Amino acid sequence: MKRILSGIQPTNTLTLGNYLGAIKNWVGMQHESECFLFIADLHALTNPPEPEALRANTREVAATYIACGIDPEHAAIFVQSQIPAHAELSWLFSCLTPIGWLNRMTQFKDKSGKDKDAANAGLYVYPILMAADILLYHPSHVPVGEDQKQHLELARDVAGAFNRKYDVEHFKLPEPAIFGPATRIMSLRDGSKKMSKSDASDMSRINLTDDADTIANKIKKATSDSEMLPDNLAALEGRTEARNLINIYAALADITPEKVLAQFAGQGFGKFKPALAELCVEKLAPISTRLHALMQDTAALDALLAKGAARANTVAEKTLVDCKRIMGLLV
Ligand code: AMP
Ligand code: TRP
Repeated sequence: MKRILSGIQPTNTLTLGNYLGAIKNWVGMQHESECFLFIADLHALTNPPEPEALRANTREVAATYIACGIDPEHAAIFVQSQIPAHAELSWLFSCLTPIGWLNRMTQFKDKSGKDKDAANAGLYVYPILMAADILLYHPSHVPVGEDQKQHLELARDVAGAFNRKYDVEHFKLPEPAIFGPATRIMSLRDGSKKMSKSDASDMSRINLTDDADTIANKIKKATSDSEMLPDNLAALEGRTEARNLINIYAALADITPEKVLAQFAGQGFGKFKPALAELCVEKLAPISTRLHALMQDTAALDALLAKGAARANTVAEKTLVDCKRIMGLLV
């Protein structure tokens, strides 16, 4: 059986990008897989949030997984910081990871800004923690959006470094699962930037908490162009905003972008946008309603997370002890 492992940072409310790039794929894979899905609160500390906001967002992400269709009876949904093995294995891996590998990470370059010396060390070693998150569970697949590809490659490199150093076949290399028309959803305002839960402009994204009117309004106001839609994808080259809206439609309707064009070729955005708005509302408004309902009962959410943590801990603890033994630590 497949085993999938993935996580999302609890910074701000999740977006359509998180849904289409990650969670929707988890939902699709969950019944043929064993699932470990966590909330990456230790990763969120790399840009230290207000404690109350972090607590609220952590619960909100858990509720979002369920509202989007993850079955908590089947999947282990848990909070990263409640499993001590993540931080501990991360230290063991730090001692096997050349600094040169970290220096290549584009996310650190982007997020650390101009003054690299002022960036916190957590932001720098973040990919090592992510390697630990993954390898602790020996997953066969790690379903994520395109922006996480480089981090996944690092996790594979760390696994290889461990196996080589200790001459073992302890870690198998996890496969990235980056698929579908929505691996990189772009901002609704600027087609050159990815849709992000941290973007300053709320109009740049659809939040999974947005109500029907807000969703429809954001789609209507989304940047597009004044040309007609063509009948083939190649003709969309250079029209990044148009391509993005087509991808969103395709992913939500579970059809290919080619099929969307076959339906709308020759029409302008005056026709396409209302259809897209309707589809977004149809698919997303029920998620938002469910999410709000789940957030009313934080005690139930916490109980569910405690159950998830107990399941995850059994698996993670075993991997950690095995690693320690292999590395020569007394266990
Ligand atoms: P993050 O929001 O960075 O914590 O990302 C959580 C998950 O959502 C990761 O698997 C990302 O690759 C995915 N993701 C985030 N933003 C997007 C986006 N705009 N398009 C597609 N996937 C995304
Ligand atoms: N780095 C991921 C992000 O920002 C979140 C994450 C942390 C993750 N650990 C992971 C994703 C392990 C998949 C597997 O989106």
